[in-house]
Amino acid sequence: MIGTSPQAHKCRCTPNENWWKNGIIYQVYPRSFKDSNNDGNGDLAGVIDKLPYLKSTGVDCVWLSPIMKSPQVDAGYDISDYYAIDKMYGNMNDFKELIGKAHELGLKIMLDFVPNHTSDQHRWFKESEKGNAKFKDFYVWRNAKKKGSPPNNWLSVFGGSAWQWSKKRKQFYLHQFAKEQPDLNFRNPAVRDEMKKVLVYYLDLGVDAFRIDAVKFLFEDEQFRDEPRSSDPNATPASHAYLDHIYTNNLPETFALLSEWRQLVDEYSETQGGPSRILVSEVYDDLYNTLQYYGTPERIGVHFTFNFFFITNLKQDISRAHDIARIVYTWQNALPAGKVTNWVIGNHDNHRVPTRLGAKNIDGFNMLLLLLPGVAVTYNGEEFGQDDGDVPFEQGKDPAAKDRATFNLLSRDFERTPMQWDDSTNAGFNEGAKPWLPVSQNYKELNLASQLNEKKLSHYQIYRRLARLRRDEPVRNGTTDVWAVSDDVIILKRSAGGRHIILAFKLGWNGNDEKEEVYIPSMCEKEAIVLLKSVGSSYKIGSIINPQNFLLNPHESIVLEIMTT
Ligand code: NOJ
Repeated sequence: MIGTSPQAHKCRCTPNENWWKNGIIYQVYPRSFKDSNNDGNGDLAGVIDKLPYLKSTGVDCVWLSPIMKSPQVDAGYDISDYYAIDKMYGNMNDFKELIGKAHELGLKIMLDFVPNHTSDQHRWFKESEKGNAKFKDFYVWRNAKKKGSPPNNWLSVFGGSAWQWSKKRKQFYLHQFAKEQPDLNFRNPAVRDEMKKVLVYYLDLGVDAFRIDAVKFLFEDEQFRDEPRSSDPNATPASHAYLDHIYTNNLPETFALLSEWRQLVDEYSETQGGPSRILVSEVYDDLYNTLQYYGTPERIGVHFTFNFFFITNLKQDISRAHDIARIVYTWQNALPAGKVTNWVIGNHDNHRVPTRLGAKNIDGFNMLLLLLPGVAVTYNGEEFGQDDGDVPFEQGKDPAAKDRATFNLLSRDFERTPMQWDDSTNAGFNEGAKPWLPVSQNYKELNLASQLNEKKLSHYQIYRRLARLRRDEPVRNGTTDVWAVSDDVIILKRSAGGRHIILAFKLGWNGNDEKEEVYIPSMCEKEAIVLLKSVGSSYKIGSIINPQNFLLNPHESIVLEIMTT
């Protein structure tokens, strides 16, 4: 039995074990979402204010990027107190209010849980650095090699050695991200206990889901062996890609720890009798290693692990329609039996979808995302086509991009600029105080308010209609087929009980700028109804076309319905 506090949260929504299985998870980047007190930073009151908007958009779960107390060296992924909300965002009462209001609306809340590392300002680290017996082994400390060099060749994800010398303790500590983010030592049972306590604390508050950050880094080789050179010929010696991370990533102990957390959460859900709480892992890796996180018949894993392959394996004007088809079917075929699939198309670590895959393709990609089976993950702003903002080097905040020379290549600030709500001051993000990152210059034309009119088809209205269509049987539970009918046209078909919902999308990549004749494979029906179309398409919603032969322009996408019974 897991202990819960006496004020354990009772969810007032209808228990629905399966709430997440076809859900839309919407990622809110709190610092850039809505600044209610006009201090330049978004906050929880701002999120609360926008909950009805999220409900009416049709999302199911709101994922909040880190909101706990933090010096913000890595945008909150450097936590200095797991039990406090960062002042910039509000306080614990605001968070409780947010959960309560979300639940009243039938929305779930997913919290970013960052267990691999803390901030170097966390009390545990300060005590550990001083050598306080209780905390001495909370982090990964090693002696210097002869001549004072680091214990081994391990590299930080942000570049350079993963070891930092502490003058105080006269030892090196491990940091697989910034030096201000020391890695916790999960071989210490006391650390494992502390992290379980954190999980239970937030379960008690009513948090429905946890996105577990940087999971694959949780354990390292006990012998601290050097890692071998990777097979990437272009990697420079200081870059993380230079080594093959066989001693720092995906260790068996990591999977065992995740099983423990999963058991804890499952047991919690059972004793509470409410809807199930879920764990989602964040792992960028190859297909095999990524899928390991779903678990095996012998070992329970997380509910699902993010599928980042639309992000990592698609490149505008290099990829072809075949690459999209391959991503879908290799993932679907490799997914362990009985597991819930998922698709992530954008997040705070990657250029926004319009910037990455083409501004004119936003509807096509939202259609693909929302018509695929399982869970869909949308990054805030991408429901209406917000693209990357401009951030000059001088205003950059990302610890992954400290050098002017590599800023444009590495910075994640561009995808983190404030949400473009409307065409007023600072895009409606706040009342005029200087935002922590500059508002994108294009906000007068590209903002949500200009797309709210339900009678006018816009990126946002398309997104809303898709969110509704997802609840229909073929998209919820139907079979999935995907084809590239040419280099540039992708078809997705979802079918159930003789009803087929079909996406046809011409990417317009690789200089494919001519109209193209398209057909839907493996269907002989001569009539299809146009249910939805991309902005600018000349098809008429509700009209009938011949699915054996129709034309698509570059960047055009349509959703068809065909009945075969
Ligand atoms: C993954 C997060 O998404 C990223 O933003 C962060 O820098 C690292 N984990 C370190 O926590």
